[in-house]
Amino acid sequence: MCGIVGYVGPRPSQDILLAGLARLEYRGYDSAGIAVIDRDGDLGMRKRAGKLSMLRDDLERHPLADGTTGIGHTRWATHGGPTDVNAHPHLADDGKLAVIHNGIIENFADLKVELISEGYEFQSETDTEVAAVLLGREYAASHDLVAAFRATVVRLEGAFTLLAMHQEQPGLVVGARRNSPLVIGLGEGENFLGSDVAAFVEHTRDALAIGQDQIVAITPSGVEVSDFTGAAVEVEPFQVTWDASAAEKGGWSSFMAKEVAEEPEAVANTLRGRIRDGVVVIPELDGLDELFAEITRVVVIAAGTAAYAGLVGKYAIEQWTRVPVEVELAHEFRYRDPVLTPSTLVISISQSGETMDTLMAVKYARERGARTLSICNTQGATIPRESDAIVYTHAGPEVAVASTKAFVAQITALYLLGLHVARVRGALSATEVAQHVLELEAIPRKIAKVLDAESARISQLAHWMADTRSVLFLGRHVGYPIALEGALKLKEITYIHAEGFAAGELKHGPIALIEPGQPVFVLVPSPRESSLLHDKVVSNIQEIRARGARVIVVAEEGDAAVLPFADEVLRIPLAGPLFEPLLAVVPLHLFAMGLAEAKGLDVDQPRNLAKSVTVE
Ligand code: M6R
Repeated sequence: MCGIVGYVGPRPSQDILLAGLARLEYRGYDSAGIAVIDRDGDLGMRKRAGKLSMLRDDLERHPLADGTTGIGHTRWATHGGPTDVNAHPHLADDGKLAVIHNGIIENFADLKVELISEGYEFQSETDTEVAAVLLGREYAASHDLVAAFRATVVRLEGAFTLLAMHQEQPGLVVGARRNSPLVIGLGEGENFLGSDVAAFVEHTRDALAIGQDQIVAITPSGVEVSDFTGAAVEVEPFQVTWDASAAEKGGWSSFMAKEVAEEPEAVANTLRGRIRDGVVVIPELDGLDELFAEITRVVVIAAGTAAYAGLVGKYAIEQWTRVPVEVELAHEFRYRDPVLTPSTLVISISQSGETMDTLMAVKYARERGARTLSICNTQGATIPRESDAIVYTHAGPEVAVASTKAFVAQITALYLLGLHVARVRGALSATEVAQHVLELEAIPRKIAKVLDAESARISQLAHWMADTRSVLFLGRHVGYPIALEGALKLKEITYIHAEGFAAGELKHGPIALIEPGQPVFVLVPSPRESSLLHDKVVSNIQEIRARGARVIVVAEEGDAAVLPFADEVLRIPLAGPLFEPLLAVVPLHLFAMGLAEAKGLDVDQPRNLAKSVTVE
């Protein structure tokens, strides 16, 4: 949460900072601000509550003198409301020093008391200003920004990425990170810092990932990274695999519309290069077969949509490998003293790779001796760096707060992993693996078919339902996590009450919610593969119909049994039962998006949320 960008080089920095912030706005949009050291050596700063457009308008009306060293911030408020004063940057040393921050400084109250007792004054309610004032005090003692910055960060507890610059040292931006993200972009005679590579990908695809508790100093000609004691450290270079156009809307009405349309590609790219002659080959996992042969238990940890991908994966991995799989919300896992042994494989799933709840759970699992594997969509992110092994999803940058294409890519990665482990353990024959692989390879084409066939009708349905106040989602087996995902997406971007239930649970309470006209989406399993499961769900439909529900069914092509009981039928192509979620979720993503559009809401930036949740 919060997006951070820094620049030093020969070019005017304002446009570079604003373009970087536009790409990072998904991380928070409560306020935005920039600070620039102008050509006369003065530090100028402008910040505004609200979205980046407010800051842009302000800068257009009252331009700031430009310069070639600058920092920029887009905020998701934690300490102090989303006001101009609480917006970043925060200044210190009589306005000569600017600081921006992502994370939470947990000991800010104690530090503030200490600084107030020394006569320092504060303008804002933020924890960040405490770091700025502390840095100002240290700078006054040494007049060396890097040394002062080091002396400051060692006093801070909690999670932070901090960037700072001082007008007496133009051409220098310093940064530090602990449990919050920071990556370096390497240009020709210029360098960049960003919360993620989106901040600078239009300028360079050469990047460096900074480790925990490290400090970086960038100048136009160089990058120096050290630890908090001042010892130089080697950092890992990487190439960004996508270009700037991948993070643009490219003519779509919203990033979410673009990203739902990219779901086929997200699955195809996650499969690419990982299937050879019907065998799953994941080069990143070379050397881990012994571990996979020995594991006795898998625990999946994640949050939100990523956790629902984990729940889908549980059905497949257990069925294929016969290893028990538990799925747990990362924030619950860590605080309940879970049983972990060296034969427990903890799989974390995270699109951003920065979700604090998940990161802390991964660290916890490692400290207690479990082996950790991360499924992640973001290169250079923290969670994969903290894990023993990584399987990247290749969904491309996901910008909309609502996670869509990353979800199908996460399920795909889990399935690849499950098939690989099943082969290693001899739980599936080569022929069985090859059959499942064929199913997986057909998924991109089938998702594209759902998008082609159902998009217009779902958008119309969503417009008819624009005034709906509550929607329920029901599913059984792998349909259950899809029901949860459908409900989450709707809550998140339309602010409508929505709940997902296991269809069998209905009679244990939720059926009391059904009243005449209550819209209920029901995910119907294939009648070909499991008539028992299918018939049970059809019975559930009848139970809610009898109580007046308006039933919208997501069912396989050709399933006529649902017709007498459904008000609307959305069709998905035929697929094996474990592969249906990858198709059934598509109408639900389209529906949530359509309803948000019908209500005139900001589809990409729903209220109160941020894409990357880097606070606990
Ligand atoms: O970046 P992550 O995958 O770790 O994010 C986890 C959740 O915060 C995320 O999936 C969230 O639930 C989405 N906004 C849902 O659409």
